[in-house]
Amino acid sequence: MSSKKKPAPAKAKDRAGQIDKLRAEIEEHNYRYHVLDDPFISDSRYDGLIRVLEKLESEHPEFITANSPTQRVGAAPLGRFESIDHRVPMLSLNNAFSSQEVAEFDRRCREGTGRESISYVAEPKIDGLAVSLTYEHGQLTRAATRGDGRTGEDVTLNVRSISSVPLQLRSDDVPLVLNVRGEVFMPVAGFQMLNEQQNARDEKLYVNPRNAAAGSLRQLDSNVCAQRRLSFFSYAVGIWEGSDSPATQIQMLERLREFGLPINPLAREVDGLNACLEYYREVLALRDALDYEIDGVVYKVSSVDDQQALGSVSRAPRWAMAHKFPAEEEITVVKAIEIQVGRTGALTPVARLDSVFVGGVTVSNATLHNASEIERLDVRKGDTVVIRRAGDVIPEVVSVVFDQRPRGTRRFIFPTECPVCGSGVSADEGGVIRRCDGGLVCSAQLKESIKHFSSRLAMDIEGLGAKLVEQLVDRGRVKTPADLFSLSATEFAALERMGRKSAENLIASLETSRRTTLARFLFALGIPQVGEATAQTLAQHFGALERLMPATVESLETVADVGPVVAREIRRFFDQPHNQRVIEALRRHGVNWPEEAPTVVPDGVFAGKTVVITGTLPNLSRDQARRWLIEQGAKVSGSVSSRTDFVIAGTDPGSKYDKAVSLGIEVIEEHEMKALAGKVTD
Ligand code: IVH
Repeated sequence: MSSKKKPAPAKAKDRAGQIDKLRAEIEEHNYRYHVLDDPFISDSRYDGLIRVLEKLESEHPEFITANSPTQRVGAAPLGRFESIDHRVPMLSLNNAFSSQEVAEFDRRCREGTGRESISYVAEPKIDGLAVSLTYEHGQLTRAATRGDGRTGEDVTLNVRSISSVPLQLRSDDVPLVLNVRGEVFMPVAGFQMLNEQQNARDEKLYVNPRNAAAGSLRQLDSNVCAQRRLSFFSYAVGIWEGSDSPATQIQMLERLREFGLPINPLAREVDGLNACLEYYREVLALRDALDYEIDGVVYKVSSVDDQQALGSVSRAPRWAMAHKFPAEEEITVVKAIEIQVGRTGALTPVARLDSVFVGGVTVSNATLHNASEIERLDVRKGDTVVIRRAGDVIPEVVSVVFDQRPRGTRRFIFPTECPVCGSGVSADEGGVIRRCDGGLVCSAQLKESIKHFSSRLAMDIEGLGAKLVEQLVDRGRVKTPADLFSLSATEFAALERMGRKSAENLIASLETSRRTTLARFLFALGIPQVGEATAQTLAQHFGALERLMPATVESLETVADVGPVVAREIRRFFDQPHNQRVIEALRRHGVNWPEEAPTVVPDGVFAGKTVVITGTLPNLSRDQARRWLIEQGAKVSGSVSSRTDFVIAGTDPGSKYDKAVSLGIEVIEEHEMKALAGKVTD
């Protein structure tokens, strides 16, 4: 009998061993993913391993440990956060806003240490929240917010739910007590996802990733925080007890990395002032391509002895400095809200602002997008607002500073008539965009249509600038694009800023532009939703305008990339007698293009692929390369995203190149592009 029972403890021991092995395996994958950025298995395989561990632990609850990878979430919500005193205060940083201020910092560091040149560690300044993590015997025991630097809040349960924070350190040779400081942040993708969810649930949107990270870390229910996809980078040590601590900042980062703590991959040693400034420029160029927000870089004297020699003043160390990037958000006052009428009649509200310097440029207008956005923001004339300009994007109003709203402001009332021509305004199907019903009767729409018609990628009428178009429309000389071809040199010469010579040149370029291609002509017509690429596809598909104009919505939908919305817009455009008359008039004025047989859609390497061009190519101009790619069936896009298939890079490729590399997108040169086109995919 007793001999029969014997195998049981051995079996339990096996199970314990199996559980330990599985935990070690999971931790290894976690480390590869978060610290080395070199995952070995897919997310779903990882989730599978976690599920196996959960099952084993549920069968053997006696083997569950506090820091098992299954124990990150699940605790009951807290009533409030407890206070925690920081044994070593959490310092803040002094800021530099110019190279000059950095030069002064470097001079002070050299004078304070007696060195000729200083070795610094430079790293991005993450726009998140500082936290302090305490590991005892390698186990995470406490996590606290910075608070006022002396006392913070106990956010241990929430921090445990952050998958890049190790619950136990990796190395056997860890300090008895290690207190690490770092930044908790929300990656931009996680922020966008969160706001989409908040929107769908009709809940408050977060203003930026930093606020979202702060809001998440302050959730009393750690299960909510666990949903928020926060992340973490370590950058400093508060306490290192029980073994020798590293002598330099860079060695310290190396050790933290060995312990399994994530370190920012851009952190590196830089020697002397110039290397610091070069690092700043490099990281600034990368800023928009990073998937987390940063607001500058930080320089830290690397030698710990030198740090001690320099010491701290008030609450910031003298051995470190934050070099801030130009703010992407600024505060200013709305002087007026005006409505702009676009080419397709869309009414776009624009805030006229007291000029501010933001995102590296002076901004005096910001878009308010549409009527519902104004309503959501409740922005009014006289309001103080936060505006944002990141990278090349159009500046926008982010929020109103309600505390500073002056008395007597009034809600903005969206016009029910076009402010330019007085025609009625109707909402589109989604109800978001309102449009002037005036069509080309509206001078604003007419001006924009003519500018579009004559633009480089459309009819390419050289010398017909915006100012001329405005005069021609205001004087009633041009009522449709076809009227351009009936003007004489004398009439052009009578306009402001025009001489006899430029008038003659303009006539000559009108003459040249008459001979065009079907694709350019279709694009020039300004059919809503038909951009350059769609125009090209339509031209290729139908080969002749006579075949395209009568096409039904159903047959239009068979064209690559033309969905029901675009098909309906095309049909509606050609159904309008007014548009038919303009097309006839243009042909009468001699606008022509070579007729071509309808072609089949290309099936080469670039067919259906999204391609971005960056930098200067050796042989082709940007436009030439674009057209060539479109002919190959590619969609040419202006910005790199995860949906980009190829980036064609020339010299001085800039941030698009960096982003492509960071996203692992195939980057090729012009000659490779040409070579690839010879090949056909299977
Ligand atoms: S070092 C003694 N490094 O910036 C040095 N701080 O303005 C203490 N921060 O409270 C900070 N990224 O929240 C350091 N790479 C980085 C940082 C960083 C962001 C934050 C941190 C700190 C604030 C100071």
